Amino acid sequence: MSDKDASAVVLADEEGIARAAKVLAAGGLVAVPTETVYGLAARADDDAAVARIYAAKGRPGFNPLIVHVRDAEQAARYGDFSGPVLQDIAGARWPGPLTLVVERRQDAGLAEAVTAGLPTVALRAPAHPVMRRLLEMVDFPLAAPSANRSGFISPTSPEHVLASLDGRVDLVLDAGPTEAGVESTILRIGPGDEWHELRPGPVDVAALYRHYHDREMPGAPAAEGITAPGQLASHYAPGKPVRLEASEVAPDEFLIGFGAVAGDCTLSAAGDVNEAATRLYACLHEAARSDRPRIAVAPVPDEGVGRAINDRLRRAATPPD
Ligand code: TXA
Ligand code: MG
Repeated sequence: MSDKDASAVVLADEEGIARAAKVLAAGGLVAVPTETVYGLAARADDDAAVARIYAAKGRPGFNPLIVHVRDAEQAARYGDFSGPVLQDIAGARWPGPLTLVVERRQDAGLAEAVTAGLPTVALRAPAHPVMRRLLEMVDFPLAAPSANRSGFISPTSPEHVLASLDGRVDLVLDAGPTEAGVESTILRIGPGDEWHELRPGPVDVAALYRHYHDREMPGAPAAEGITAPGQLASHYAPGKPVRLEASEVAPDEFLIGFGAVAGDCTLSAAGDVNEAATRLYACLHEAARSDRPRIAVAPVPDEGVGRAINDRLRRAATPPD
């Protein structure tokens, strides 16, 4: 499609999901709801379809994509789950907001660009009922990064998707706002049971580690040589300066509040980090749209999903180089 045409938006009912399945089968791009954020999906087994994702997002080719599957059984066709606890974790935590990075199988049949030349593949079985139904209807896995232009704020509603990608995606499946609000936790477990939390998210990796090992997770060693914009210092950028840990606000600042600090947009007046996670990107989108040139953000406790919120806020506050 050309940039000039508006993207089609359909309600995510049975008919809408069936239409999305057809567009995907033909190699098209569909924005899909997941329990975390909206994804920009294409069939993961087709080079041309995957290339369209990179082009629509303006995403650098060295940043690999997450492959979405129905369940652990399907995941095992693409990645090696023979490691000590991997099968168990996939069985226990899927469907859900956890991405597992495992060795890619030689016979995976995925488009090369999906893994950007890495020997590993990121796999996740999402919990959103619409995405689950879609994955049941198609006979291929779905590559899907967050449905935003590269480096910009992730979308938690169809409106956010259109603000960033209108005309660059064939179809948007509208299921309203998403529930978890921040992207999945990304966990890499190496062949020798080395754990690396590559991205904090809704699933608590330290708690998972304790569950399987009965001791604390060893101090996180640096992740193994992966250069991925989602892990770069500057990302999730709202396009204006962001000041963190703010308790007061300047006249030219849009204030994102939390708890006792009431803002122009408040993450959670009750001081609840889970509620704050669901509102994080909506507030950042509102702040980006506002006529004030700068953004200030109240402190958010670094507990539970608060760690994921602070991770994203730090990246939003780091100017692009
Ligand atoms: O919640 C989510 O994970 C959402 C929804 C749509 O599923 N997706 C998402 O995708 O956040 P994206 O592309 O915005 O972030 C995926 C992250 C990137 O930082 C990428 O570098 C990393 O996953 N990644 C993908 N494959 C990897 C691999 N083989 N090794 C290490 N990191 C990988
Ligand atoms: Mg993203």
